[in-house]
Amino acid sequence: MNKQTAQDRISKLKDLINDYRYHYHVLNQSIMSEEAADSLKHELFQLESQFPELITPDSPTQRVAGGILPGFTKYRHKTRMLSLSDVFSEAEVKNWQDRILKLSNTNKPISYFVDIKMDGLACALIYQDGLLKTAVTRGDGQVGEEVTSNVKTIESIPLRLRSTPKYKQFLIGTTEVRGEIVMYKKDFEELNQQRQKDHKPLFANPRNTAAGTIRQLDPRLVSTRKLYFRAYDLIRDEASQVPTNQYAYEALSSLGFIVNQASLTCDNLNQIIDYIKLWEVDRLKLPFNTDGLVIKLNDRALFNSLGVAGKAPRGAIAYKYAAEETTTKVKDIFISIGRTGAATPVAMLEPVVIAGSTVQMATLHNEGEIKRKDIRIGDTVIVRKAGDIIPEVVEPLKRLRNGSEKPFKMPLNCPECGTRLAKLKLEDAVWRCPNQQCPSRTYKRIQHFASKSALDIEGLGEKNVIALIEADLVSDPADLFLLKASDIIKLDRFAEISARKLIQAINQKKTPPLNRFIYGLGIRHIGEQTALDLARYFKSLDQLSRATIDQLAQIEGIGEIVAEAVVEWFSEKANQQLLSKFKRLIVEPESITEVNTPLKDKKFVITGTLESMSRDEAADRIRHLGGVFQNSVAKDTDYLVVGQNVGSSKLKKASQLKTSLISEEELIKMLT
Ligand code: IVH
Repeated sequence: MNKQTAQDRISKLKDLINDYRYHYHVLNQSIMSEEAADSLKHELFQLESQFPELITPDSPTQRVAGGILPGFTKYRHKTRMLSLSDVFSEAEVKNWQDRILKLSNTNKPISYFVDIKMDGLACALIYQDGLLKTAVTRGDGQVGEEVTSNVKTIESIPLRLRSTPKYKQFLIGTTEVRGEIVMYKKDFEELNQQRQKDHKPLFANPRNTAAGTIRQLDPRLVSTRKLYFRAYDLIRDEASQVPTNQYAYEALSSLGFIVNQASLTCDNLNQIIDYIKLWEVDRLKLPFNTDGLVIKLNDRALFNSLGVAGKAPRGAIAYKYAAEETTTKVKDIFISIGRTGAATPVAMLEPVVIAGSTVQMATLHNEGEIKRKDIRIGDTVIVRKAGDIIPEVVEPLKRLRNGSEKPFKMPLNCPECGTRLAKLKLEDAVWRCPNQQCPSRTYKRIQHFASKSALDIEGLGEKNVIALIEADLVSDPADLFLLKASDIIKLDRFAEISARKLIQAINQKKTPPLNRFIYGLGIRHIGEQTALDLARYFKSLDQLSRATIDQLAQIEGIGEIVAEAVVEWFSEKANQQLLSKFKRLIVEPESITEVNTPLKDKKFVITGTLESMSRDEAADRIRHLGGVFQNSVAKDTDYLVVGQNVGSSKLKKASQLKTSLISEEELIKMLT
């Protein structure tokens, strides 16, 4: 990027982030999610690191938080209240540690202190000879607001420090205690329920509510709101009186403050990483919100000697857990033709990591959706990968446009075969390629039929399927069983052995389990679970092909739309021909016999990745034992299996619905 383009971009980012911050911190309103704003800040930070000459003092990267409201007295902090630089991966934690080792120039082992990063508002309490004199908000880090009368209403704050022999020195002179004022999730929900009853506007989240409360000018109102203060820092003029953070926490606890019991001293990177993993899941059970951890040097003399870079100390970082929302750019929009002919617009994105995996494409669903959201090629957009596995574009950030963005135009013809796109019904949102022989449809149908969850035919990867279609050897899934080794050997991609292997792999699948075969047909709305339900109920393909809508609707979990899709599929001539072809070729699915169903009707959802098996494999094994595999947590879900790199949405839902959480090991035990 050249300097001029960078400057334009920086100025647009600054305006948008500033607006976000003003709404969030001053008005306690939210114009976009915190995660999305974080990702814009990250982009700004990186651009500014690339062009440091473009940094201006008013850049959001150059200040800590919020502005000062009129009505409170200003107070200059004796020691600046710093913020922390964010890191998002274990690799970045390691880089930080490497930098520390380089800078610290010592042979002594270095220990770290880790704690939960609470999502509330920072507050400094100044005690004079043990008595609470002043409470100050962070403000811009240098100057805060004096909110003593409000803060005094928080019962978890001692008005006088507790006296214990070991720490009695802190009761003499000035002692500053810093911590986070938080509202607990439970209290926040109760407050909002009450407000709903009283027809008052609801609060957005616990953090904003806590911040808004502390800035109330009426302390009596503040005292009615349940707030907590949890301490994380102890400051004395004579810094050596607090040698380590571990010492600070012990002292704070004795002096009468709540400190996080979860905090821990670590001696190496592995311990830090274990801690990150542990709290990735358990943080959701904490009474307050948190989006990450604080990792700092335990030794405060070393911490101080490393100094500050910008607004953040070198000796500490914030580790942020995987966001489920982030921002990126739409590079292009193309049309993907599915096996049923549906023409789905797909956004090609600049690759970004969301919830632990790299995303470069997101579905835009249909033309109407693009119009409604006004998504253009070149737009910076918010993308989300929540409960769903397929990432989606939430909205474009229109204010970041520079005029070069191009609106998307739905093509009139199928980009694969040139056939005019059509709609099944006038009111349909989806355009379809009506050509049954469209190579893209054929390809997707065959690939779906051969896929792991369907017939699981080895050797039929993307390129091989395309080669077979292009050589006119197959035009539907049944044609696979007509293939001869002598035909495929002629193709560039195959040699004698690979050709024979493929034929063998195909012929081995002439009596597939009925559920897999039904799934492999690619009937609309029929996923693996529904295919299994159908196979269990109807026992044979013939019976299923004669099923009526009423019969189908009797099966638990099958609604009208699915029932209609099944009946429609079997009534289509082309599909009947396909089934006769299978019969002629003696491809006969076998009805499933289940003797061993210890997980009968138990419903499972998986979040994150598993170490010992893929998600598909886990789903398969669960179903095999009579269990049900679901994609998202619902009221009837029995277990949420928690893997690695989990995002928070499924966990949040599970905690709301009190779904049991189990680990991968526990799942494996159930499966064996
Ligand atoms: S230690 C140099 N520990 O996070 C600042 N901060 O981004 C060291 N916070 O201003 C702060 N929980 O308001 C620390 N356990 C914790 C924290 C914590 C929340 C906040 C705090 C700070 C901000 C830094």
